[in-house]
Order: sequence, then C-alpha cells, then structure tokens
Amino acid sequence: MLDKSNVFEFTAETLQALRADAPASASVIHFNNAGCGLLPRPVLETMIDHLRLEAEIGGYEASAARAEQVRDFYVSIAELIGCRPENVAFAGSATHAYSKALSAIPFEPGDVILTTRNDFISNQIAFLALRKRFGVEIVHAPDLPDGGGVDVAAMAALMRARRPRLVAATHVPTNSGLVQPIAEIGRHCRELGLLYLVDACQSIGQYPIDVEEIGCDLLTSTCRKFLRGPRGSGFLYVSDRVLAEGYEPLFIDMYGARWVAGDQYEPVESAARFEEWEFPYSTLLGCAAAARYALSIGLEPISRRTPALAARLRDQLAAIPGVRVLDRGAQLAALVTFDVEGWDPQRFKSAVDARGVNSALSFREFAQYDFADKDVEWALRLSPHYYNTEAEVDTVAGTIAELAKSAPR
Ligand SMILES: Cc1ncc(COP(=O)(O)O)c(C=O)c1O
Repeated sequence: MLDKSNVFEFTAETLQALRADAPASASVIHFNNAGCGLLPRPVLETMIDHLRLEAEIGGYEASAARAEQVRDFYVSIAELIGCRPENVAFAGSATHAYSKALSAIPFEPGDVILTTRNDFISNQIAFLALRKRFGVEIVHAPDLPDGGGVDVAAMAALMRARRPRLVAATHVPTNSGLVQPIAEIGRHCRELGLLYLVDACQSIGQYPIDVEEIGCDLLTSTCRKFLRGPRGSGFLYVSDRVLAEGYEPLFIDMYGARWVAGDQYEPVESAARFEEWEFPYSTLLGCAAAARYALSIGLEPISRRTPALAARLRDQLAAIPGVRVLDRGAQLAALVTFDVEGWDPQRFKSAVDARGVNSALSFREFAQYDFADKDVEWALRLSPHYYNTEAEVDTVAGTIAELAKSAPR
C-alpha cells in the first residue's frame, strides 16, 4: 500500500492507492473533509476487528488483550503533535476536550478571557456561559484591517494591559480558510506567563503541529476531520507545566484520580486526569490507526498538497460571475468558503449534493463576527484533502459555475 521507507510523494500510483483505501472516493467527490474525512480502510478494519473481538471474548477482556494498541493511541498522537504520550487525553469530541480544559480553570468574577473574533462558535458560547455563571469578562482582540486574521501586536498589548486568566485561539476556524498565527500568539503568552489554549480541530491532519513551537498549555482537536479518524473522538493535550501546577477538570472520576481516603482524592500525574474510566475502545484504536496512517504519509507532504488543492479551487471559483470567495488571510487552509448570488443556501447545497459533491453550509450564527464583517448570511464550504485530485477540483469548479449561471432568482 503506502511506501513508508522514503519521503512520501503524491504520484498517480500513490494517489490511486490512497483512493483505493477510501472506497467512497470512487462514487462521490468528498469535499467535506473539514466536516469529516473519509475513513481509510485500515482505520475501518481496526475498528471492526476490535468490535468483533469484544463480541468474541468480552469487552473488558478485549481491551486488556489490546493494551499495546490502546497505548499506541497516546504514542501516535504524541508523535503527531510533539509531546510525550502522558500529555495526551482521549476525548469524545473536540468540544468535550475543550470544555474539560475550561472546567480546570478556577475562574473568578472579573477574570479576563482574551480570544479572537474567529474562534469557533462553541468556544465563544462556552466563554459566554462562563461569563453568565462566573462573571468573567470576554475580550476579543481586533483583526488586522484587511480581515486577514488577528492583529497579534494588538493582542499582545491586551495581554500586557489586561493580564487575562486565559488566552484562547482557534488555529483554523470552521467558517473560512483563515490560518491564525498561533505560534506568534504563543510566544507572547510564554513571555508573560499566561495560560494558553489552542483549538487545532481543523489543522490536525492537515498541517504539522508542534505544541512546543506553538507554546500552548492546552490544545484540543477532533480526530474525525483532516486526521480521518472515526466520529465521536478527539483529544486534549495538557502540558507538563499545567499538570505540575495541579490543574484538574471540575468533574474528575476514578480514572483521573485515586480516592486515597474517605475525604481525599489525588489526581493522577498524567493527562489521564482529564479522561474518564469508560472508553469506546474500537474508536480509540481507530484514532491510533488514523494517526499512524497520516504519519506514514507525513504531515509535511500533506500540508503541501491539501491547501494547494484548495487554492486551485479558490482561484477557479473567484473567476465565476456571481460567486464571492470569502476566505481572507496571508496563509489559507483547505477550507474554501463562498456564497452565490440568487441562491437560497439549502437549495444550493441540495443542488451540489445532487451532482455528487459533498460539501457543508455555514451560517451567520456560526461566525457572528466574521460573517458580519464580510456581510454574508451563509457560505458553502468545500474542503478537499490530499486524496482528492486536481480533476475533481476542476469538475467541482465547473459544477459551481453551471449552478451560478442558472440561479433561480
Ligand atoms: C475549529 C473547530 N473547533 C471545534 C470544533 C468542534 O469539534 P467537535 O464537533 O468534535 O466537538 C469544530 C467542528 O467543526 C471546528 O471546526
């Protein structure tokens, strides 16, 4: 299948092998990798195999029999993001990981959360919920004048002036191809000793990620998007610094802590502190297989090909009358967003679906600041991945051109 001995190259042969591992690619153009990537065959087989073992010998017995592979979830994710396995906690979703991380911070009235105008919708809602319950203040750093993402100098000035309890940034938001300068933000956080939480949900599996280089204390992701893991999975990275300082989630269970006396518990040393006793083991093993699959190709080659396919698509869409490409920024990821004159969003997406192209819709509600700035109510999002082809990009651009020309009003 994949040649792991050399630096991976996307050639006609390797692409064919990759596509053979993703059977849906024969029948549909899957440009919804920012929603959920296609499971590679080894991931699917690993999961089915484990479910079968559970049925054959018992659920507890199966996870015990596969202890080494279970451990590989932590080892492979650690390899993917540049930390120790002990810094990784499994989570049921990126949002689950994020709320666990937030729950570990003992917010007090008046504490400041400093974030950006492009942080993910559920993160923004979580900050508002913290404001409602604890009276924290939410401060949004301004964007650069050209809409190309957060103004890091202004954000750093706010860090110095407001001394936030938490700095939070989303690497790539769900609603556009923007790539935020998370490592630059991180340098300021480290300089000032501020707690830094990064949402890397759309960048894991698309770009090399190094938590040391980013300088974050906490980092969250799903496994189902560009990493191509199963649904219902994600992880939380917890730095040694955060573990040593004794941060623990609000609700900690018998896996995250030891009940050492009637009135006393002790959190465990590792990021397992943020996990619970029960795991969906076939999912966990599927995530390990997905991480190994991505590592076997290499995040460098992926990060060259995947955004380049999106750039090719963006260029073609930008030339279509009635189509407005909405992505702004010096560096753009493989999330291509646009709206089309004369179409209702749902009808437009249905027309795209009917032509065998998987996509996703975003609405104003998903990005209150960004979509207000761009004065848009909705956008269609197309998100190719490395296993897609240039020919598919060209076909999709042709499909959008045809639909734009035949707008119902
Ligand atoms: C940037 C970003 N963060 C977080 C999430 C939430 O991920 P999950 O659905 O796994 O909770 C998403 C999902 O689209 C996302 O795009």
